[in-house]
Amino acid sequence: MSPNRKDDHVRHAVDQQRDGTTPQEATAGDFDAVSFVHHALAGIDADTVDLAVKAPGGTWPAPLYINAMTGGSANTGKVNRGLAIAAAEAGIPIASGSMSAYLRDPGLADTYRVLRSHNPDGVVIANINANADPGQARRAIDLLEADALQIHLNATQEIVMPEGDRAFHAWPAHVERIAAEAGVPVIVKEVGFGLSRKTIRRLRDAGVTAADVSGRGGTNFARIENKRRPGGDFAFIADWGQSTPCCLLDAADITGIDILASGGVRSPLDVARALALGATAVGVAGHFLGVLVDQGEKALIEEISDWLHQLRLIMTILGAATPPELADCDLLLSGEVAGYCQARGID
Ligand code: FNR
Repeated sequence: MSPNRKDDHVRHAVDQQRDGTTPQEATAGDFDAVSFVHHALAGIDADTVDLAVKAPGGTWPAPLYINAMTGGSANTGKVNRGLAIAAAEAGIPIASGSMSAYLRDPGLADTYRVLRSHNPDGVVIANINANADPGQARRAIDLLEADALQIHLNATQEIVMPEGDRAFHAWPAHVERIAAEAGVPVIVKEVGFGLSRKTIRRLRDAGVTAADVSGRGGTNFARIENKRRPGGDFAFIADWGQSTPCCLLDAADITGIDILASGGVRSPLDVARALALGATAVGVAGHFLGVLVDQGEKALIEEISDWLHQLRLIMTILGAATPPELADCDLLLSGEVAGYCQARGID
């Protein structure tokens, strides 16, 4: 990916946060279609809540992580440095953006390495695309001394780019080989269009440790790519994919693979909702990027710390001493989410 494209992605993603396009999308409301049933005697003591979770790569201090975004240019190296400092200070895992540019040009290493050098003791996750081979996966992992590896599946995004890939048939075999040879847990993720039940089962059968559904409702790469060039509008893609709550409900019965949630997570309440819908941990990209770019590193540290504090308070009311206990909460589903469950035969 050209450095220029990396910078464009950051700029347009921040614009989506600023102009509120993201929260105003109909599907962003899918998190609002998930409510907790309040039980007035369920509460516990806040100081008994433990946010740590067992997740890919070991124990994560909290069920929240900064999801894959960037690297590969001078500007995005600075963004990565800010994200890494915030992750280290607030104590949450962080994933790198796609490391394809580094695999092509090792001279770009520093723009990614900051994720580890400014966050020496934290959980760091490398990121590659599904065209990579196990040797390239190894180089990405080694550069960051990564605790886990993400492989992103972004066929929809590629299709919207005139210069994007058009050949995807080899991806399942690549994923299987990398999962077998990576030597660290492998997480396969979407980039904002969602993973279906069928896809997650295939990933499990391919030996993948975790699936990050990264559903519709947040950063929208179809719109970003359309904005990057005049006249390139693919109308059919505007509403492509499944929202994050729908993906989680679709995946609810699947065993043998960890489910991670991202895509359109706007608040600590959305984090609690995603955990209650069965996610092991929850990733945020666009919102945290917007805070960093518009308000700086200190504001992002405060934002993440505040989210963790509020998550702890939500769990206190709900009587969940650990994140997995949120899955026992009673939920009410309405609107499009309830309709989706009916259409898919989900109880
Ligand atoms: C992304 N995302 C992403 N994902 C990935 O696996 N590799 C990548 O290189 C990128 N690049 C990227 C750049 C920017 C600027 C953003 C905002 C996002 C996708 C990201 O990890 C996530 O899946 C989606 O953005 C949905 O989450 P949010 O943004 O709605 O929280």
